[in-house]
Amino acid sequence: MSELDQVTLTAGEKSVALPVLKPTLGNDCVDISKLTKETGLFTYDPGFGATASCKSAITYIDGDKGVLLYRGYPIDQLAAKSSFTEVSYLLMNGELPSSDELSKFEHEVTHHTMMHESLKSFLQGFRHDAHPMAMLAASVASLSAFYHDTLDLNDPEQRRLAAIRLIAKMPTLAAAAHRYTAGQPIRYPRNNLSYVERFLHMMFEVPSEDLELSPVVAKAMDLLFILHADHEQNASTSTVRLVGSTGANPYASVAAGITALWGPAHGGANEAVLKQLAEIGDAKNVAKAVERAKDKNDPFRLMGFGHRVYKNFDPRAKIIREMTHKVLGELGVNDPLLEVAMKLEEAALQDDYFVERKLYPNVDFYSGIIYKALKIPTEMFTVMFAIGRTPGWVAHWLEQQVDPDARIGRPRQIYTGSPSRDYTKG
Ligand code: CMC
Repeated sequence: MSELDQVTLTAGEKSVALPVLKPTLGNDCVDISKLTKETGLFTYDPGFGATASCKSAITYIDGDKGVLLYRGYPIDQLAAKSSFTEVSYLLMNGELPSSDELSKFEHEVTHHTMMHESLKSFLQGFRHDAHPMAMLAASVASLSAFYHDTLDLNDPEQRRLAAIRLIAKMPTLAAAAHRYTAGQPIRYPRNNLSYVERFLHMMFEVPSEDLELSPVVAKAMDLLFILHADHEQNASTSTVRLVGSTGANPYASVAAGITALWGPAHGGANEAVLKQLAEIGDAKNVAKAVERAKDKNDPFRLMGFGHRVYKNFDPRAKIIREMTHKVLGELGVNDPLLEVAMKLEEAALQDDYFVERKLYPNVDFYSGIIYKALKIPTEMFTVMFAIGRTPGWVAHWLEQQVDPDARIGRPRQIYTGSPSRDYTKG
């Protein structure tokens, strides 16, 4: 943190004093909100690499040190000691729950997991091979049609209820999308199971036999959800906030977040990583893949490498890396793609191109290998990310609703088109 209280910007004859805002942790921020009024100037920052869009008390990242805190708690401590439902409560409410508060929260989430029966016919409108992310985005957006009577955004209880419904129903909608494309009957959520077990049951139980839930699988999935639960102002969360800034309802806002997550530069990377590892196919082809990734005339990138904020190891990737070996060992899975992944990681970490640009494996590099071992179909990987990220999205949406500084999000531009000209018939 610097000692500066303000910075002075000189624009020709004019000097403007711009206040410097102090965070509890992290970089100071120059408040440029009065800049245009004072000087007529806009600022240009494609990709918002240096621009804070809001104040937030939810998550903190130090990209150089590889630190990630949810509400002040380090991710490795939460991964080791907490559960996904407890982390969801923490993100939404700001504090860890007492055991009584956690039981009430879990009870409430459990009793909002059902989806409206007519959503089944809605899903049946999709082609048999629809991507589950398309189905998830559409079915989450459709929730606003089912709960339009509780969408008074000025009522804190209705806002809270919408957040609970989103956390509760996301696994139900995700599993329903999978079952529809798999041609299997949709399963109802079971109240006697935990959040993750319930999801696994809806994904994998078939009428012909009983499903034995593996504690190893349930534990691994709970951990993966914790690691994905929030990541401050990433593209999908910023999308939720941008849509939320217009006064749109939380279901519409989160549906937009899901579509933003889908891109391969963001949550779609986990699906892309696995496809890429399969294409590389063998550890002996790794060097060629690394060379391709470095070739500026080739659009090929190593999926699962690099991050806008982390310029050191992604702390989530560290935890997942360890877990991958453990889970594959416990499940007795011997996946040759793990060998390809390890060779790729080793080759990239020793290569000047990747070292100079600080391109380390990110959260998505290993998660696909675990999801595969847990028998999650590849096209469901980004859906898994969406389930994990839902508490983060709703926490940000809730925070935005009571932010006194919140305004409709409306960036400016540098216009590069034609100057004004008179219309003439061609
Ligand atoms: N493979 C090869 N080169 C890369 C890669 C990569 N994966 N990532 C970045 N670079 C190069 C890039 O070409 C550029 O080189 P130069 O300086 O010579 O032009 C430099 O590194 C900086 O990259 P950038 O594109 O300016 O960085 P960014 O902050 O805009 O993008 C990123 C970050 C994550 C989109 C990018 O690293 C990427 O596309 N990675 C692969 C996709 C991926 O794994 N995404 C998941 C991100 S983590 C989970 C999540 O947030 O959803």
